[in-house]
Amino acid sequence: MDSFDSAIAKYFETYQQKKRPINVNFRQMVSHLNNPDRATHLIHTYPAKLLMHIPYFFLNNNFLSKRGDKVLDSFCGSGTVLLEAMIAGRKPVGADSNPLARLIARTKTRTYDPLALTDEAAKLVDNIDKRRTSYHPNVVNLDYWFLPNIIKQLSSIKYAIAEVEDSSLKDFFEVCFSNLVRKVSLADPRISVPVRLNPDRYHKKHDLHSKSQKALSDLTRLNAVQKFNEIIQVNIRRYGKLRELLPNKVPEVVIAEDARDLNCESHKIRSNSVQLYISSPPYAGAQKYIRSSSLSLGWLDYTKEYNSLQALDRNSIGRENYLRRHYTDLLQTDIPKADRILKRVFSIYPKRAHIAAQYLLEMKASLEEANRVLKKNGYLVLVAANNQVCGNEFKTQEYLGYILESLGMIPVLNLVDDIKSYGLMTKRNKTADIITREHVLVFQKA
Ligand SMILES: C[S@@+](CC[C@H](N)C(=O)[O-])C[C@H]1O[C@@H](n2cnc3c(N)ncnc32)[C@H](O)[C@@H]1O
Repeated sequence: MDSFDSAIAKYFETYQQKKRPINVNFRQMVSHLNNPDRATHLIHTYPAKLLMHIPYFFLNNNFLSKRGDKVLDSFCGSGTVLLEAMIAGRKPVGADSNPLARLIARTKTRTYDPLALTDEAAKLVDNIDKRRTSYHPNVVNLDYWFLPNIIKQLSSIKYAIAEVEDSSLKDFFEVCFSNLVRKVSLADPRISVPVRLNPDRYHKKHDLHSKSQKALSDLTRLNAVQKFNEIIQVNIRRYGKLRELLPNKVPEVVIAEDARDLNCESHKIRSNSVQLYISSPPYAGAQKYIRSSSLSLGWLDYTKEYNSLQALDRNSIGRENYLRRHYTDLLQTDIPKADRILKRVFSIYPKRAHIAAQYLLEMKASLEEANRVLKKNGYLVLVAANNQVCGNEFKTQEYLGYILESLGMIPVLNLVDDIKSYGLMTKRNKTADIITREHVLVFQKA
């Protein structure tokens, strides 16, 4: 195992002397991780995934945590931190409001036996009855997103998965199925929220015009069951690689539903129980996690379980869907620098000001929870970036730092990296800018 004890101690010392962000390059610091297909990290795509080098660096030392300690990521998304924590012999605890994220994260951190998976997969594929084609997923405009031949094949697969009794096996097949859903949909794979593939968006001579045309014509003849089986086989190999990296004893991974309430009935996380918190929280209005996952959420029945996509979106911090009556007055965040900017933004674009203010208030609630569950002297590592709101620089990392300090936490380190791993980041609207430089803030609970 690598140990970054001395590197971290040196950064702490430099920061204590200069009190200024230190430029780093995580890809260089942990250069042997440059193959992204490590263990089970790639079993499913997810928007704005965290660069795995960051948790690796903060987990592989005895300075911030030790083997057996609890490590929490309360915005765990697809489980990058949880997986690295498990490999580093820590006890991973997570939370995410998106049920697709929770499915991916808990599946990613399971220790399946690849041989058993191979047997079960063969049984499942045998069990797919191509005559059972009438499943109705709760996907709005189903025919707009899928060709008729694809809907039939996905239905047959869905029926076969529904018959799998073992819940952990079912999770594995659902993850593979969700991968398939996105791959065989008419959504453009280059854009994280579903936008229908349209060759005419590109000039006839452009490479992407012919590529999009080919993708569409391939879909008319696609054998989805074969594609599903290919996804399964690649993922099974990943569980083989995970086994080689795991310590002998692997703990159960706990995943709660809301970063603002880690004390809920089903997943109680005790006060003063977590040694290390590592998270990359959402940005204000920057990623539409529920919309990006909407096709999978529909086919996996989560939209039925939670009533609608809108109901799921309401728990998502950083969301953008508000009605006019929500932003008749400007919310106060009690972060003086943020309130000054929000007042200016409110006079031009009240909705944007509301999105950003609501975001800060909800982030405050989640950081209060993080502080509650952290042990005394425990550490919190937060990946955040500044962005723009209506042409004004919105210093998210500074505001989150202010919240943490007002909770009594002590800033011990601020590292900056030009992280370009957010391949799915797109320029979403005229009033928000692309995030380029990431700050990694480290605080200690006093
Ligand atoms: C930047 S992503 C995290 C990505 C993750 N680090 C990974 O590598 O996949 C932020 C996550 O915060 C989640 N989120 C938004 N609101 C939340 C809430 N109230 N509680 C928990 N998670 C929430 C989103 O669903 C999204 O998965």
